[in-house]
Amino acid sequence: MKILVVGSGGREHALAWRLRGGHAPIDGRELVVCPGNAGIARELRCEAPRGQGVAGIVQLARDEHVDLVVIGPEQWLVDGLVDALALAGIPAFGPTQAAAKLEGSKAFMKSVCARAGVATAGFVATNRVDEARRFIDGRARAGKNVVVKADGLCAGKGVIVCKSAQEAVDAVKDLLAGRDKPPRFGEASRTIVVEELLPGEELSVFALCDGHEAVLFGAARDHKRLRDGEQGPNTGGMGAVAPLDDGQGVAAAMLARVRDTVFLPVLDEMRARGSPFCGLLFAGLMINDGVVRVLEFNVRFGDPETEALMLATDEDLAPLLLTVAKGERLAKGQVPCQKRAAAVVVAAEGYPDAPKPGALIEGLTDAAQLEG
Ligand code: AMP
Ligand code: GLY
Repeated sequence: MKILVVGSGGREHALAWRLRGGHAPIDGRELVVCPGNAGIARELRCEAPRGQGVAGIVQLARDEHVDLVVIGPEQWLVDGLVDALALAGIPAFGPTQAAAKLEGSKAFMKSVCARAGVATAGFVATNRVDEARRFIDGRARAGKNVVVKADGLCAGKGVIVCKSAQEAVDAVKDLLAGRDKPPRFGEASRTIVVEELLPGEELSVFALCDGHEAVLFGAARDHKRLRDGEQGPNTGGMGAVAPLDDGQGVAAAMLARVRDTVFLPVLDEMRARGSPFCGLLFAGLMINDGVVRVLEFNVRFGDPETEALMLATDEDLAPLLLTVAKGERLAKGQVPCQKRAAAVVVAAEGYPDAPKPGALIEGLTDAAQLEG
């Protein structure tokens, strides 16, 4: 089987490494990564796209005669790469453009959850400052803070966790269009979602979905603050541990409840809307006193959670991903994880606000000599 992995991060390195067979490469398995990175190129073949945009990836997949394409970054999914590959007759693991809206529009996600009866934070979706302000003031009177979110994709910059009503109103004004100013993130923040700040503990749960069934991959936790001791700004994740189980207060019964009360109702609702979700659905959850609420959905593997998950499992994921990519049904069950693993992120200076690109990573050969 020949597999093309699309992306250039640690997540794609981990996925490609696992699909290649991990520490025990699988006979007859060939991996190509596009565009990949210098670290991936030490072990696997990296190829540039054969042109701009979606068409450039489709052409590469054609030229390489791949049996399966696995897509890492959400932008490709929202841009319709899976749809374009389907037209070319190439099986791709990931949701269609219509289904990727679960991540591509927070207002859409809220409407799906409301219809599916899935609990989220109380919210308003609006393009007007006065409407947002009414919501913020109402919550402030109840002693509650809010989170302000751009509707669309903003490369992790569109969520502001606010400590006061004033900060929230400022964030709303910053994101939305004003009389003489365009929206801060263009179309992505023409609409915003303002929602209640939820207390509790965050948990990420990953599921392989075939439109009907959710096969849980297990739970992970990523550590969001930049610095040790929960200090510094929110980031995309500075590290992750997976899978979580009884030892970390995440019981199997709770995960089964998440499948039944979050994943399955959302899959039903997406089918009812004519855009069944096939691919990896990642639910960002807030758990408070046993009550589970959804903060967000991502329509792809998490980064850096995947770096830990791919080390935690010894399974060959290719048959499962190919089943989903071909539109076939998964067997009920769970993806077994044989061990626990952790991932640590090394970020460029200035991350997350203004990272300085181009820093050199050295010492990898020495690091690889260390157990684990
Ligand atoms: P999102 O991209 O929507 O998951 O938001 C990014 C991060 O902001 C989440 O992982 C949480 O740490 C935080 N966050 C988002 N929404 C809320 C909320 N309603 N209450 C508390 N924290 C939140
Ligand atoms: N680590 C969070 C994400 O991948 O969105």
